[in-house]
Amino acid sequence: MTGAAGRPARPSVRVRVPGKVNVTLAVGERRPDGYHDLSTVFMAVDLHDTVLVRPAERMSVTVRGRGEGRVPLDEDNLAVRAARLIAKETGRERAAEIRIDKSIPVAGGMAGGSADAAATLVACNELWGLGLSYEELRLLAAQLGSDVAFPLLGGVGLGTGRGECLTQLPEAGAGAFHWVFAVAEDGLSTPEVFREHDRLQELREVPPPAGEQERAATVAAVVRALRGGDARALARIAERGNDLQPAALSLRPELRRTLRLGRQAGALAALLSGSGPTCAFLAESAGAAAGLARVLSASGSCREALATTGPVPGCLSAG
Ligand code: C5P
Repeated sequence: MTGAAGRPARPSVRVRVPGKVNVTLAVGERRPDGYHDLSTVFMAVDLHDTVLVRPAERMSVTVRGRGEGRVPLDEDNLAVRAARLIAKETGRERAAEIRIDKSIPVAGGMAGGSADAAATLVACNELWGLGLSYEELRLLAAQLGSDVAFPLLGGVGLGTGRGECLTQLPEAGAGAFHWVFAVAEDGLSTPEVFREHDRLQELREVPPPAGEQERAATVAAVVRALRGGDARALARIAERGNDLQPAALSLRPELRRTLRLGRQAGALAALLSGSGPTCAFLAESAGAAAGLARVLSASGSCREALATTGPVPGCLSAG
């Protein structure tokens, strides 16, 4: 990959990138490469990280905001890996100073680290004037992780393969759905949740993976609900749509209480966001979401509860 000679390089580039919730997450068989085949509907939500990049002599990353201190600042940082990858793939010996301002919960099942990596790809593409297309960025994103490609376009997307093959789905319009996210005190490791899922599957404590027809029917129902901006219909699907939920609840049983509190306080749906431990609640209106967030915050069952909306555009479209 060389990258067309794009626009001239810039002194610094700032990119805002959204977090996501999985409206549905169907987990298939474990593949020989250790990943699981997924069929998942991602929705980008209005909780953003901001990534700023500047030219530098060597790669570095700093993080401030929600969850700072819990993000690795070494080579494990996905944003650093993203900057190294795009430099290597475009044949440039370049480095960047990366500054991340976080609002997306860390290790919370909302793909915050993946969002930062996606934003870093977009920012470095701009900073270094590489002129890579969406498709080229998407391929780099897929090398970095299963959830890195989605935040490029955001909105609502169907993820298949291990999550990195994306189809954009029609939406009712930006901010059509009201969500509350209850952020847990500590994160959960995604590989650990998948391992627990495999264990429960072997013990037959969770249903076998959905067949192709069932998956297609779920996606069709989600599309109908999205088109109509129908929160109640979306809630019915989302409430029972996350196959990783039993595994995350098995590792963190106390999350059941948070989900129950949200339902009692009027949530249309209560589910785990991705592999958790963030609990996601769909609400009827902005007012209902604000009320729900107050109840959850006061309950002491979470670190904080955030009311927001989705879908929102990704970091390529939002600029
Ligand atoms: O792709 P990513 O690095 O985000 O995935 C983190 C881990 O989650 C993987 O190493 C794997 O254990 C698990 N995973 C999986 N199947 C997927 C996506 C992730 O088993 N489709």
